[in-house]
Amino acid sequence: MNRNLLNVALSGMSSLMWLLRRVDRQFNGSYLGDRTDTEFLSDPYPTYRKLLSHAPVLRSFANQGWLIYGHPEVQAALREQRFSSDASRNPFFLRLAQFACGDLEVPLVERPTLLNQDPPDHTRLRKLVSGGFVRRYIESMAPDIQQIIDNCVADWQAGIETDLIAGLAQPLPARVIARMLGVPEADWPKFQRWSEALLGATMISKPARIRAAAVANDEMRAYLQQLVSCHSVDSPDLIGLLMRARDEADRLTDEELISNCILLMTAGHETTTRLIGSAVLTLLQHPDQWAGIRQTPALMLPAIEEVLRFESPVQITLRFVAEDFTFKGCRMKKNQLALINLGAANRDPRVFGAADSFDIHRKNNIHVGFGHGFHLCLGMALARLETRLVLETLASRFENITLGAQELRWGDNPFFRGLEQLQVRL
Ligand code: HEM
Repeated sequence: MNRNLLNVALSGMSSLMWLLRRVDRQFNGSYLGDRTDTEFLSDPYPTYRKLLSHAPVLRSFANQGWLIYGHPEVQAALREQRFSSDASRNPFFLRLAQFACGDLEVPLVERPTLLNQDPPDHTRLRKLVSGGFVRRYIESMAPDIQQIIDNCVADWQAGIETDLIAGLAQPLPARVIARMLGVPEADWPKFQRWSEALLGATMISKPARIRAAAVANDEMRAYLQQLVSCHSVDSPDLIGLLMRARDEADRLTDEELISNCILLMTAGHETTTRLIGSAVLTLLQHPDQWAGIRQTPALMLPAIEEVLRFESPVQITLRFVAEDFTFKGCRMKKNQLALINLGAANRDPRVFGAADSFDIHRKNNIHVGFGHGFHLCLGMALARLETRLVLETLASRFENITLGAQELRWGDNPFFRGLEQLQVRL
């Protein structure tokens, strides 16, 4: 297979920059050529803004596809059925993924999960899985989530400096989902490890990470098969809820149940870790707004929405063109890949005034941080709840919390955005 195509198709860091430079060169100027990968990682937004100034939908000859950057265009693409989420129907993508996985199954592609199905299969599955995400059930998790937060911060004393990511933002969402699934506490660290590894499945150009994801996928599947086989249908946890979920005579098969539990872990862990890290960073970088939240707790939820816009944890999602059609004046060809950039859309100056300013008082914040359309995030109420409880805990227990001295290090997977470490002084 052509090495360049392999490098850019899903992209590790340098290959994404390589791709964006190639796209930029189609137009005048060489602005992107001067930016290093590290600069891009620490602040991708000037690059996105430059690309958006060319056009909101850009042809990318380098990866035989399209880049969609503008907010209205991203929303329209995510509502468009002819952009498919089913990677297994795309021979180009599948060959790349199999090349990286070797003899192991490609995680999150070869099994029926919500994220890789299109309507009507997706509609059926979503109806069944959403039974486990009803508002009342998520809200009933608040005391358990608070307990997990309290355990994470039990040793934190005012005056010390600590890494918020390793100590709280990383373990919390993994433990919450493991708890929801009814996984015994002794196995929670295993779940955290698996879900961290699974996220590497998007790093096609880094075969070692893909392989680690495939191994984690195998181990987690075997574990969940065992757990489900001896699970009572009456149990009050999420697996019990999903086992009971039915739509008339239809219900989830064991295979669908297990695959979607793996998806929930993967979709709900690192994303929430990143949101919590970015929320604490951004609020402490804007002490007036942090003080505002402490004085007026009603500002907490708009502040979380603004973090989702300003530093979207999911920066890019993928679609595959299912049939030839014209989208926003562009001729899409069957099987082409579309990189849909939520992070760029959330900074689109045509939609958001002062788009590069962080403002918890922003009105009409119609960000697409949780996606849009058919695949709108199912776990958003849970992510908001976890983040709110973390911020409330920090605000009430550590009156003088500030950022520690540090050089910020952002994760190197361009599909997601979040800090690897965040030193805070309590
Ligand atoms: C800050 C945290 C989170 C962010 C930013 C986020 C973001 C997203 C986005 C952008 C999508 C749409 C992807 C696409 O269209 O390709 C999505 C889908 C999804 N998310 Fe989340 N998510 C978060 C937390 C969670 C949590 C906590 C869970 C569950 C435990 C979860 C479960 C899901 C599921 C199941 C889908 C697929 C829905 C479908 O395909 O119908 N997410 N999420």
